[in-house]
Amino acid sequence: MTSQIKKIAVFGATGQTGRLICRQLLENQNYEVIACARTTQKLEKLKAYLDESGDRLTIRTADLNRSDDLDKIIKEVDLVVGSTSQWQDSLTLASSAVKASTHYCGTYLSNPEKWKQLRELNSTCLSQGTMIVDDCGTHPGLPAAMIRRVMLHTPIHSAWVGGKFDLEWDRLELSIETATDFMAEIQSTDPSLFVKGQWKRGYSYARQFKFQDSQKSNNCIPMLMEEIRELAQSGAVPSTGFFIAGFSPFVDYVIIPVSMLLTKMNPRASGKLLIWGLQRFASRPKCAKLQLEAEVEGSGKTVRMMVSHDDPYFITAAPVVETIRQVLSAPKPGVWTQGMFVEPEIFFDKLKQKGIDVDIQM
Ligand SMILES: NC(=O)c1ccc[n+]([C@@H]2O[C@H](COP(=O)([O-])OP(=O)(O)OC[C@H]3O[C@@H](n4cnc5c(N)ncnc54)[C@H](OP(=O)(O)O)[C@@H]3O)[C@@H](O)[C@H]2O)c1
Repeated sequence: MTSQIKKIAVFGATGQTGRLICRQLLENQNYEVIACARTTQKLEKLKAYLDESGDRLTIRTADLNRSDDLDKIIKEVDLVVGSTSQWQDSLTLASSAVKASTHYCGTYLSNPEKWKQLRELNSTCLSQGTMIVDDCGTHPGLPAAMIRRVMLHTPIHSAWVGGKFDLEWDRLELSIETATDFMAEIQSTDPSLFVKGQWKRGYSYARQFKFQDSQKSNNCIPMLMEEIRELAQSGAVPSTGFFIAGFSPFVDYVIIPVSMLLTKMNPRASGKLLIWGLQRFASRPKCAKLQLEAEVEGSGKTVRMMVSHDDPYFITAAPVVETIRQVLSAPKPGVWTQGMFVEPEIFFDKLKQKGIDVDIQM
């Protein structure tokens, strides 16, 4: 039935994340996708790669910084996805979506300034019945959803989530903008966590996580994300935080500090150094693992939830696509993080159906 067909524009469609979002969206016969990026040749390659989708995929050369390109495309669609390189793009896409009364989902990294500006759009979203959902993907994206999933059936009084992501950096075509944005994110990491109702801050709160199938424990540093801040603020759990494992000792203790020094003088050089360091010293077989360790209220027992996949970009794209499905099928108008928006039970069931390992151990 044509009335069920939803049109979705994906900005950043030729990127590592964007192309998987397009592919997974096209698995749903009720979606039509407009794939957008600035480089026509890359879009044509994408079209060839996804050719079985026939006329449900169109490609459009467009720069989101050119308002004519952007406004024209957004007017045609039910939802716009942002998966370009820089978090600032989120503000451009979200405000254009609001102007056109269209839903918006972004995969951008968690950033306090982004959230301050996105929240200013909340009242307009409420009045027009549209949604802005950002921090979609894995990290940000999954930690708060995992905690909310476990809390559906078990009252807990602490919830710590660790993440470990390995990539074949030497095989990735990373744009310099994405690397520069990534460096800025590392630099602005806020090592805060919520302990017994109080915010604590510092790398000394690092935690050891022994991820499933790993031989040894990994030292993981605290990394505050908006979804964890919201969850803590909601009073749902007295102690919570997200922690991330390092890349490799040489990258963590040499390349990143030097790149940080370079950022102020020359952000592009800093991004290039980071890419070189990751490609030379941190390339490993791909895998993404998230692990929640939660203490059950009053019993001292631990519940563990593990979510993993051998492709970090697949495990980023799949939650975005399920979030889009929930936005289009049951919108909750307003501005949301993915971690706090999604209905957690069906969300993880759907991820499991897509081939992501989801395991809860009591
Ligand atoms: N939440 C998570 O778990 C998670 C995980 C991974 C990545 N991310 C975030 O997701 C985003 C995408 O990451 P990625 O690694 O997939 O990036 P990427 O491979 O570098 O791809 C960037 C894409 O954006 C396009 N682009 C860049 N600037 C544009 C503009 N002004 N207008 C239109 N298109 C533009 C690029 O194509 P052209 O250059 O041809 O325009 C390309 O298609 C980043 O913001 C990253 O931080 C989030």
